[in-house]
Amino acid sequence: MRPFHAWSLVLVTCIISMYMFSLAGATDASTGTTDDSSVVPTATLSNGLVIPLVGLGCASGVRKSHVLSALEAGYRYLDTAQAYQWGYHERDVAAAIAESPFVTRQEIFVVTKIHPENLGVTSTRRAIEGSLQQAGFGGYLDGILIHKPRCWPGACSKDPEGTWQESWKVLEEYYDKGLVKAIGICDVDNERMLDELMQQRIPPHIIQNWFDPFHQTHDIRQAIQAKGILFQAYSTLGTQWKHFRGLDQNPVLTSTTLTDMAHRHGVPGPAQVVIQWAVNKYGISVLPASTNPQRQADNLHASFSFVPMNEQDFEVLDQMDGTAPAPSRPDPNQVAMTFTTTTRRQEEEVVQAFWVDEDGQEVPVGTIEANRELNMNSYHGHAFVFRSSAGKLLLEHTVSRNGGRKQTVVVGDGDNDEEEL
Ligand SMILES: NC(=O)c1ccc[n+]([C@@H]2O[C@H](COP(=O)([O-])OP(=O)(O)OC[C@H]3O[C@@H](n4cnc5c(N)ncnc54)[C@H](OP(=O)(O)O)[C@@H]3O)[C@@H](O)[C@H]2O)c1
Repeated sequence: MRPFHAWSLVLVTCIISMYMFSLAGATDASTGTTDDSSVVPTATLSNGLVIPLVGLGCASGVRKSHVLSALEAGYRYLDTAQAYQWGYHERDVAAAIAESPFVTRQEIFVVTKIHPENLGVTSTRRAIEGSLQQAGFGGYLDGILIHKPRCWPGACSKDPEGTWQESWKVLEEYYDKGLVKAIGICDVDNERMLDELMQQRIPPHIIQNWFDPFHQTHDIRQAIQAKGILFQAYSTLGTQWKHFRGLDQNPVLTSTTLTDMAHRHGVPGPAQVVIQWAVNKYGISVLPASTNPQRQADNLHASFSFVPMNEQDFEVLDQMDGTAPAPSRPDPNQVAMTFTTTTRRQEEEVVQAFWVDEDGQEVPVGTIEANRELNMNSYHGHAFVFRSSAGKLLLEHTVSRNGGRKQTVVVGDGDNDEEEL
């Protein structure tokens, strides 16, 4: 059983009791679209800004009309990005803010993200300037996040000119100028990166990672929250499993356990119990995307208007971590690799294999004995280096799914004699 972390409950209780307020009150009551009983918890960022813990995700088909309906329903936090390739329409979000009769610009917290192909000082500056020029944003942004800390094969249309660290300095520059009110980054999945972020002149206010009942990543979430950074979840309703993890159905929205729990609480569906659990138990900021006005309103209001879930309910969700069904179709990025050595290598020579991690560190993953193989499941874009026992570089190899689902690579003597079979 997962250990109970009393501190997290204390943190969440403080957040909720100190900052609960009704977003519904900000909308025109005469429209009848708000629910006065709903109270959306808020959080305070490390720089003192107060934000609602439920925002609208503006990917997954969300266009201008959907942002308009969300603003009418009471949403005051919008999460967009510059990556139109990944389903975002930043211009639609800006246009909706400008057109909405329900809110002023100042009432909204709008966040955009820098595409990883624009990492590097000049590109990031240019990218931020582009977003600042969207008329509906009124010349400032409430938040800017680095969308991904690096490119990977197929993700970027050009090689980035620099690194996330260089882009971070630019985010700090715009924060200093007051043109951006909070800064952050997505996909911080290891403590080394978190430590590096904490050493920046202005550490992140927000870190956005994938989090849903089947993918809870407790260690890094706790580490992030312990540093006073807002942990913000993307794809909390399970979309990642369907689009990127080879599942035919979204395991969160089709979970019978969650559907039963929702019925028991008299709420429309699993989304409500997932949202209340993430927000009330862990103080996580969630960004459910929806193109449907009713579901938008349910996610914002019905998730909090029912009798609060108890610790037994929470425990059921906690226990779902790591239990997603096996993929019905293979992960398109997975490649079964066999690494072997040339027969001309000396019998006694052992080849050391290393995976090159996101920070360029060489992580040992095994050895290849003479006339033996090293087999492993790897992924498109993973980089490896192979060294002799004396440390001589024999081969660098990046896995590509284009070579087929099973590949064999022969490690030679370091004379560019890589061979893929
Ligand atoms: N930083 C990153 O790399 C990253 C990656 C992914 C996402 N994000 C952000 O996180 C946001 C949310 O993630 P996501 O878009 O992947 O998906 P999500 O929020 O997990 O799920 C969205 C899907 O769930 C459906 N849905 C929403 N509310 C529902 C409800 N109450 N009942 C039933 N179905 C419901 C929506 O369909 P309908 O439209 O039909 O309601 C939509 O297709 C994104 O929009 C984006 O802003 C960031």
